[in-house]
Amino acid sequence: MSFNNTSILNDINIEIEDSDFVVITGESGSGKSTLLSILSTLEKPTMGEVFYDDRAIYKLDEKEISQIRKERIGIIFQRFYLENEYSVYENVILPLQFEKIKKEDKINRANEVMKKCNIFDKKDEKAKFLSGGEMQRVAIARALINNPKYIFADEPCGNLDSKNGFLIMDLFKKLHRDGKTIILVTHNKEHTSYGNKIIELKDGEITSRK
Ligand SMILES: Nc1ncnc2c1ncn2[C@@H]1O[C@H](COP(=O)(O)OP(=O)(O)O)[C@@H](O)[C@H]1O
Ligand SMILES: [Mg+2]
Repeated sequence: MSFNNTSILNDINIEIEDSDFVVITGESGSGKSTLLSILSTLEKPTMGEVFYDDRAIYKLDEKEISQIRKERIGIIFQRFYLENEYSVYENVILPLQFEKIKKEDKINRANEVMKKCNIFDKKDEKAKFLSGGEMQRVAIARALINNPKYIFADEPCGNLDSKNGFLIMDLFKKLHRDGKTIILVTHNKEHTSYGNKIIELKDGEITSRK
């Protein structure tokens, strides 16, 4: 990946299994977000290749990519990007807005993911009245509504206090046990042990793998 001929990532070679919980770590500016964006289809690499199973996703057009995103990918960010005036329930169900799914099924799915993320008891609360930890649980529930196989998270605990940070990490652990593939960026040393694979970046290169 490069901008204005400045190389941001170099010589990155990663293989992720369906059963993995991958933690990507490293100092600020080391390329973590860029790598996650490329792995999660948000950005195309200027050089290099990305495959999902045998599918070369870096070659697909926007329409095909958005289909893959809808079917397979849930993305969570440090900033929660909720609709503040909407209720928890309305935020969670939003990705299904234009889907041809029976209303009743949409509601069932929303209830299920809100329960999974332990936010069901706040379902009618406006997002703006929630705590940071609750907001992130809503964002995770929203990311789960399409039942994606791959969950990408970029510093999901970056805006949270330590207790809420661990609650969110425990939720990722539960999702991993449920069969989700997790790829999570953090610079919190206490969170790296959640991964079965730990990749450390420095200046756009992998400096350690565990
Ligand atoms: N759109 C961009 N244009 C130019 N440089 C960028 C852009 N995005 C990121 N960078 C640079 O790439 C490097 C890695 O950034 P980033 O992936 O955000 O790192 P991290 O998430 O580890 O903090 C940084 O030096 C950053 O300034
Ligand atoms: Mg970043």
